[in-house]
Amino acid sequence: MTENRITPSRRTVLTAAPLAAVVLGAAACGNDSGGSDNASTAADSSPSDSAANSSSDVLTTTSAVPVGSGVVVDDVVVTQASAGDFAAFSTKCPHQGCAVAPKEGKLDCPCHGSEFDLDGSLVHGPATKGLTPVDVQVRGTDIVRA
Ligand code: FES
Repeated sequence: MTENRITPSRRTVLTAAPLAAVVLGAAACGNDSGGSDNASTAADSSPSDSAANSSSDVLTTTSAVPVGSGVVVDDVVVTQASAGDFAAFSTKCPHQGCAVAPKEGKLDCPCHGSEFDLDGSLVHGPATKGLTPVDVQVRGTDIVRA
């Protein structure tokens, strides 16, 4: 008998549910406006992001790349075929995606033996094309993504 006093009546539940939905809907609308604020914040931060990225886009330094060879930085291999002739390529072998690495004046794929010149061109397969170029620039002593 005391349970009837504590348990909400069927009418109370039915009238409270739509009110709860309205309150939750209003809260969701408030979040939407916050979302648009976030979008403008993200757009506003783009110039500063690109400014911050300029220092993080440094792949390596010119002195770190041996003449007649290359150096791997993450998923990029930076080469220097002759003094001052820098280039960069994805390390991803176009055959099946293994990572190529400098070896004896070439770029060698350890998986199936494809070989590439320091300019990224295919020397021999099984790959059927050269490495994918990565645009880089020399800025002072830094080599940066272009
Ligand atoms: Fe490079 Fe096969 S993945 S030769």
